[in-house]
Amino acid sequence: MAFIDRTEIAVIGGGAAGFAAAIFAARQGASVLIIDKARRPLMKLRISGKGRCNLTNDCSDQEFFDNIFRGAKFLRSAESRFGPHDIMAFVEDLGVPLKTERGRRVFPVSDKADDVASALLKEAERLGVRIRKGTVTGAISVNGEITGVRTEDGDIECRSMILATGGLSYPATGSTGDGYAIAGKLGHTVTERYPALVSLKCEEQWCAEVQGLSLRNVSLTCRRGKKTIYSEQGEMLFTSDGISGPLVLTLSSVIAGSDMKELRTEIDLKPSLDRETLDRRVLRDMKENSNREFRNSLGDLLPRSLIPVIVELSGIDPSKRVNSITSEERSRLVSLLKALPVTICGTGGWNEAIVTAGGIATREVDPKTMESKLVKGLFIAGEILDADGATGGYNLTIAFSTGHAAGIAAAERRNRKMNAIAIDGPGGAGKSTIAKALAKELGYIYVDTGALYRAVGLYALRKGADTHDRKAVAALLPDIDVDIRYVDGEQRVILCGEDVSGLIRTEDVSMAASAVSAQPEVREFLLETQRDLARRNNVVMDGRDIGTVVLPDAKCKIFLTASAEERARRRYRQLLEKGEEADYEAVLEDLKKRDYDDSHREIAPLKLAEDGIEIDTTELELNESIKAVLKTAKERLGLD
Ligand code: DC
Repeated sequence: MAFIDRTEIAVIGGGAAGFAAAIFAARQGASVLIIDKARRPLMKLRISGKGRCNLTNDCSDQEFFDNIFRGAKFLRSAESRFGPHDIMAFVEDLGVPLKTERGRRVFPVSDKADDVASALLKEAERLGVRIRKGTVTGAISVNGEITGVRTEDGDIECRSMILATGGLSYPATGSTGDGYAIAGKLGHTVTERYPALVSLKCEEQWCAEVQGLSLRNVSLTCRRGKKTIYSEQGEMLFTSDGISGPLVLTLSSVIAGSDMKELRTEIDLKPSLDRETLDRRVLRDMKENSNREFRNSLGDLLPRSLIPVIVELSGIDPSKRVNSITSEERSRLVSLLKALPVTICGTGGWNEAIVTAGGIATREVDPKTMESKLVKGLFIAGEILDADGATGGYNLTIAFSTGHAAGIAAAERRNRKMNAIAIDGPGGAGKSTIAKALAKELGYIYVDTGALYRAVGLYALRKGADTHDRKAVAALLPDIDVDIRYVDGEQRVILCGEDVSGLIRTEDVSMAASAVSAQPEVREFLLETQRDLARRNNVVMDGRDIGTVVLPDAKCKIFLTASAEERARRRYRQLLEKGEEADYEAVLEDLKKRDYDDSHREIAPLKLAEDGIEIDTTELELNESIKAVLKTAKERLGLD
């Protein structure tokens, strides 16, 4: 399949997390492509903080974690390496001076979120990060490892993919949560998602009567059964169908995902006065207003629009003279002022939610690197993760800090040294059986390079070419697309898009493979495919020239051999078991001829690498051979 583009790191989503990831990956020298479906990236950042961009909170580590609702433990490592103060230094270094406001909220001095967005864009551009408009529909992974990204316009090849598509809040900015499906298809658990930092709907009809009323210095308490799950003092306001304002936004995050029916919520309108003090205060007010009607007596105690509501809820006759109010009635009034109940029955929608609660389960993501524990080369950052915090710059801090971790780790991944075990040797020494067992034991992938030569042989046969004609075979190579894939851990050989794994095991193809494998052009042609597999994976690779030519730097090179007679006996037994006719002498002769050809051909002859270890299996049972090879491999690779 042809790719429409290629990059080392594909960042899906051009938001705060995506840009942080892209910039830090590019600063490590990686080639980075951001793919975003919006016409203009960083849309949500531009409208955040009412267009002023509250980009972080100038707080201590402890304060930071106190303000995280979900994912605090997971965020620890990333935050310690790129926390609020690093974010501030990063943005100021990009030429955006910052200021700190009430609640330690950090904003650009200009009060313009666009300035932060422009600075990020400029830095990305300076570093050569490319931005491509497109819709990503999925990832391409081979053997549990990312190899590309699927977009509506075609496939893009990459080594790593950073999923930073954001959550579900503010869908108008392009944040529609596409990444959840992509991660889900790759096997990730996505927890239920709820709008958070959002207004709450209440059953009480009277909220509409006081809509727009803002209360300062009240306290909001929410209980589940006997347990107080939230109690804070501050500001809130009433809306047409419920409550909002800072206290309420925080409460919405605390209760995200809860069964609302179990919650009991109340507003203490006079949190600075305890019940007795308030009672004395009410009594004093009543004495001063003793001849008034009750409904006209609360002006000193409550905002005007709230009075009719409290009067009605108190159950006291509004036209009753204050001096005839009973102490039991007064007690009811005091109770109401200390605990005005509101019944939460829902939340404002995604359009007004500041952030998403829930997302990709963080237990499946490495907290140091943001790399998926399920798919190699997949990194996840930002709001898409099941991590969220309070208003005040905490959520952008999560985005920057996880984006930073992902970007650095994805860039470092390019240099990650893979382990390679090269197993060479003559035919019939048990290379493939032993290599497979070794790969399984070590969790590496097994690469049968002979299959690649066989695929080329098959192609030449299909084209009717003389497989011994070097020129004719070389002329075919530009049209050959041969690759190795893994399906359920089994190697499959893909020839021009067709799985030919079964078709290459015929005698004709063996002969053709033997012929083409002696041709320098063919060997050269297959070299990169083999090396590329070893760059991307820990491999056990078998063949004839793996230790000498293909992977000369492999730490472990094993030359597996056995006497010609023993190998012939094994092959002979195999043939009999398959029910085929066999002649031991003929098998032996064939084998000796192939040995001779393989080790005397001009190019990449079969031989023991200088630093290779020869293991002779003539006297060994299969399981003994496996043990011996495994022991050697572990020693060489420093495993255990
Ligand atoms: O291991 P096999 O029989 O599937 O290999 C097919 C042919 O390819 C065989 O003739 C040897 C050759 N070969 C090679 O020259 N170099 C390799 N690395 C692997 C196989």
